[in-house]
Amino acid sequence: MKRKGLYKPTVEDAIEIGGIETLHPGGFALTKRTAELAALREGLKVLDVSSGRGTQSIFYAKKFGVDVTGVDISEEMVKTAADNAEKAGLSHKVQFMLGDSQCLPFEDNTFDVVISCTVGIPDDSQKVLQEMVRVVKPGAGF
Ligand SMILES: C[S@@+](CC[C@H](N)C(=O)[O-])C[C@H]1O[C@@H](n2cnc3c(N)ncnc32)[C@H](O)[C@@H]1O
Repeated sequence: MKRKGLYKPTVEDAIEIGGIETLHPGGFALTKRTAELAALREGLKVLDVSSGRGTQSIFYAKKFGVDVTGVDISEEMVKTAADNAEKAGLSHKVQFMLGDSQCLPFEDNTFDVVISCTVGIPDDSQKVLQEMVRVVKPGAGF
């Protein structure tokens, strides 16, 4: 977080300062339910779109043994998420990258499961959904 000069907090700053653990409707109960519905299990390659501070990605790796890539448009979020994964001892299972959910930086058919709890945040939700479908392997869930 940059505090030099006139400090203009961003939404990400507010989230960070607030110490909020999960930031989506339904909280952890919904995170867990999502993982169950997607039948997450060891060996699966998961993409967490708009991964924020990495709370969900880390949870999926820890509880379900999946390998997770989180992608977020905020550099600060990506850094925080990577730090959190390291603190959780899961850097080998979870990685975070900078990217726009409306133009995901992955090849077609890359992931077994693609999850996002924040489809409504960017301007073009339809584009996000198309991108999620593009990068998930045919027949897989998201
Ligand atoms: C509600 S938070 C995600 C919280 C996270 N799933 C969790 O439970 O900890 C929303 C995230 O969406 C990211 N975001 C907003 N627009 C985005 C976009 N176009 N592409 C990727 N990420 C975006 C923000 O940077 C923010 O980290």
